[in-house]
Amino acid sequence: MDNLEVQRAEEPMTDLMKKHVPVVTVIKQEPLTVEVHVGKLLKHPNEAEHYIGWIELYSEDKLLAKAELTPVSTEPVVTFVLNEKVTKLKALEWCNVHGVWEAEIEIK
Ligand SMILES: [Fe+2]
Repeated sequence: MDNLEVQRAEEPMTDLMKKHVPVVTVIKQEPLTVEVHVGKLLKHPNEAEHYIGWIELYSEDKLLAKAELTPVSTEPVVTFVLNEKVTKLKALEWCNVHGVWEAEIEIK
């Protein structure tokens, strides 16, 4: 699989999609606090041979934050606190076997 191709979930979601699509949840409005959880719908492996390597958060095309993850030692769940108004957030994550996956949410 080409690791540079960005993949998204579609309905109906397959198990592969459930394991990889980042789930973005607003935890708090002021300041805007969001959790990005990979494998929330179906747990993704977390082992030396197969793991989630990083999670990025974007507003439009602006990178807001990136979390590098160490396999086995950390879970692919990250909380970000934002200091600016955004209307949309996009999360990307990278699996070393299955490539880059993205999800977007609207912020009200
Ligand atoms: Fe994977």
